[in-house]
Amino acid sequence: MRRILVTGANGQLGCALRLAAAGSGDSWLFTDLADASDETLARLLVQGGPKVDLATMRLDVTDANAVGKMLRDNEIDTVINCAAYTAVDAAESHPAEAHLLNAEAPRILANAVRETGGLLVHISTDYVFDGNHTIPWKETDLPSPLGVYGRTKLEGEIAVAESGCKYMIIRTAWLYSEFGKNFCKTILKLTSERPEIRVVNDQFGTPTYAGDLAETLLRIIPKYSRSGIWHYTNSGQCSWYEFARAIAAEVGHTNCRIDPCATAEYPTAARRPAWSVLDKTRIAEDFGIVPPAWEESLRRCLRYCGA
Ligand SMILES: NC(=O)c1ccc[n+]([C@@H]2O[C@H](COP(=O)([O-])OP(=O)(O)OC[C@H]3O[C@@H](n4cnc5c(N)ncnc54)[C@H](OP(=O)(O)O)[C@@H]3O)[C@@H](O)[C@H]2O)c1
Repeated sequence: MRRILVTGANGQLGCALRLAAAGSGDSWLFTDLADASDETLARLLVQGGPKVDLATMRLDVTDANAVGKMLRDNEIDTVINCAAYTAVDAAESHPAEAHLLNAEAPRILANAVRETGGLLVHISTDYVFDGNHTIPWKETDLPSPLGVYGRTKLEGEIAVAESGCKYMIIRTAWLYSEFGKNFCKTILKLTSERPEIRVVNDQFGTPTYAGDLAETLLRIIPKYSRSGIWHYTNSGQCSWYEFARAIAAEVGHTNCRIDPCATAEYPTAARRPAWSVLDKTRIAEDFGIVPPAWEESLRRCLRYCGA
């Protein structure tokens, strides 16, 4: 039985892990800065039944003393780091905060895990790449982030890899779920309220259901044999516009017209990669993981959204 600690456990992936963990046979400790919101707890209860662990212990991942003590006191052998500064546009005007959470906190966690001899599973992003590609990005491709979020996430990867701890860095992309704030939930709301919306049609990637990523983490952690980077997203690819159309079509929001637009027509603080599809060959070869198609997983998520 493993003793697993999850950081940022009230976020999208953290909540998906709470559901996936129920009945796993491992011992789990879910931590975050505060308790989960009432809405999150209600969703977890509806989906998971009584076995889902709803408790959140307070752990600030930027506090090295608290991290070390928590790992030692609870004899933790595996840490899954879901805590991050994920607001891509806000990161441009808050680079110090983004650096603290995305680069410094992984260093703190990696050092603490090295001391206890455990395994750090660290989640990273397709935004470490610049998008200047037309074939899926491999783990061996050179990162070249376009903005503060991607740059600080890359710094976090490097800190983990250089720490000397046992680690698995999992890069994912376009994460959405029934929890928290994400593109899928925004489109559900907008298409139920507005007669028309415009969505960018010149950025391509792969939507990834947090529930699928959580289940994948549970499958690969017991098979750890070497440290490294692996890519995981759902399979397939689309633009944000195509993703939005699929969401609205699936739930029958036909009264809202969705029009495509160019990134240039929808200026944001952060530049985003135009093409960030990730190659999943390595995770398939090493762990036998075959991700579901994004359309299939979207249907699964929408059932849980109650849409
Ligand atoms: N979201 C995406 O589209 C996406 C895409 C690719 C990769 N990723 C990566 O996937 C991972 C999980 O993302 P997610 O969408 O699940 O993130 P999320 O929903 O934003 O959750 C992050 C959690 O970390 C918490 N947190 C913030 N500061 C903290 C601190 N000092 N100590 C402990 N916890 C803290 C947040 O609390 P507050 O809400 O109170 O701040 C939140 O509960 C991240 O590493 C992210 O970079 C995400």
